[in-house]
This record gives sequence, structure tokens and C-alpha cells, in this order.
Amino acid sequence: MKRMIKVAPSLLACDFAKLEEEIRDIERAEADLLHLDIMDGHYVPNISFGPLIVKAIHTLTTLSLDVHLMITNPDIYAPRFIESGADTLTFHIEVKNNPMSLIKKIKSLGCKAGISLNPDTPIEALDDFLHCVDAVLVMSVNPGFGGQQFMNSSLGKIKYLKRIKEERTLKYTIAVDGGINTENAPELIASGVETLIAGTTIFRSKNRALTIQRLRGNKEKA
Ligand code: DX5
Ligand code: ZN
Repeated sequence: MKRMIKVAPSLLACDFAKLEEEIRDIERAEADLLHLDIMDGHYVPNISFGPLIVKAIHTLTTLSLDVHLMITNPDIYAPRFIESGADTLTFHIEVKNNPMSLIKKIKSLGCKAGISLNPDTPIEALDDFLHCVDAVLVMSVNPGFGGQQFMNSSLGKIKYLKRIKEERTLKYTIAVDGGINTENAPELIASGVETLIAGTTIFRSKNRALTIQRLRGNKEKA
């Protein structure tokens, strides 16, 4: 189903010992996408998983895979994640690379290209790339770990992205990632967010389907 507001559970918060069951459960709960956090222990102080696991997940589900690269060398690894089944590949503006050439490379390999920025990075850092990306991912926590507190500084960035998107009739979708819950979701949606990424809120909830509906703002079903 095509929805205005999409919810992307972040698998980082799932029980990896029961990966397939967790994915089935999230499918039943009508998640729109699966968010996969890739951490290299260098760009962020944590290590998660790599293309091998992305490929395994790809064989288990038809959900679109939203792959979030928190790695120092996205240029080197982008093709492997795309071969492994990424539908969208998002990298960070803070890494020292040539963002434009990476965006082009990702797209030329048949994948959507996303760009992300940390809470401390000014939104203007993305200005030169907004016309050519498919997604912008605003971090509302410092990347590296799930379960952190949402940072309000992301709201101004989301409003800016919505304004620029409308003024310039651009096509990117606006996503937010980190500390998202049913309390802060309504203001984020009102500010312009189209994709809510949530790990702890969904995987720790007793009724994941209901939590996903509530995140989307589907009050009548809640
Ligand atoms: C943080 C990751 C997030 C994280 C979200 O570095 O990019 O996707 O898994 O987890 P919660 O929703 O628990 O903040
Ligand atoms: Zn993420």
C-alpha cells in the first residue's frame, strides 16, 4: 500500500538470534520499509553488520531495504551493498569523499541515493546535493547506537528541507532517525517528515502493528 507517511523499523533493535521471526513479525505489523544500520567501528564507535547479512535479509523479505551507511568509506562499499539488495543507500555528508560522484555512482547501479547529516552538521551542508538525491535522512541522535534520546535540533532542519523541496519542486523524501516515538512523531510529521525510522519504539513494543499505526498518526485504528 502506498502511504503518505512511511514507517521504517530499524532492525538494530531486533532480536538477532531470531532474525527471520522478527522480520516476519514486522511484515505482519505492516511496516513500509526495513531500515538497516551499517556501522564500521570507525565512523561511529560501534560495529553492526555488513553486506553478507543485508543479502540474507534480502532473501527473507520483499520489503524495501533502506540501508544507512555509517561508515568512513561509502565509495568503496556502496556497490557491495547494492548487489546485496539495498533499495536506498544513504551515506553521511561528514565523511571525506566526493558526494556528487557517489550519488551518481549509486544511481547508476540502479539504487536510490540518500544523504544524511549528524545533529551537529548545519543543514546548508546539503544544499549542493538536494536537487539530485532521492532521500534526505536527518539524524536526531548522534549516530552509533539505538535507544538514545531524540534531539529537538532536527525539527528546524526538517522544516528547512520541506520549504526547499516545495520552493524548488524537488523530489527527495524527508526521513528522520533516532529517538522517534509516538509522542514526537506528530510534530515531526507536521514539520514535513515523510519517513519515520524507529528501532526501540517498535521492537520493544508489545503490539508492534498498533505502534506502527500510531507512529503514522492513524488514530482511528489505535
Ligand atoms: C542510530 C541509527 C538508528 C537507530 C534508531 O545510529 O542510525 O537507525 O537504530 O534507533 P532508536 O529508534 O532506538 O533511536
Ligand atoms: Zn539509521
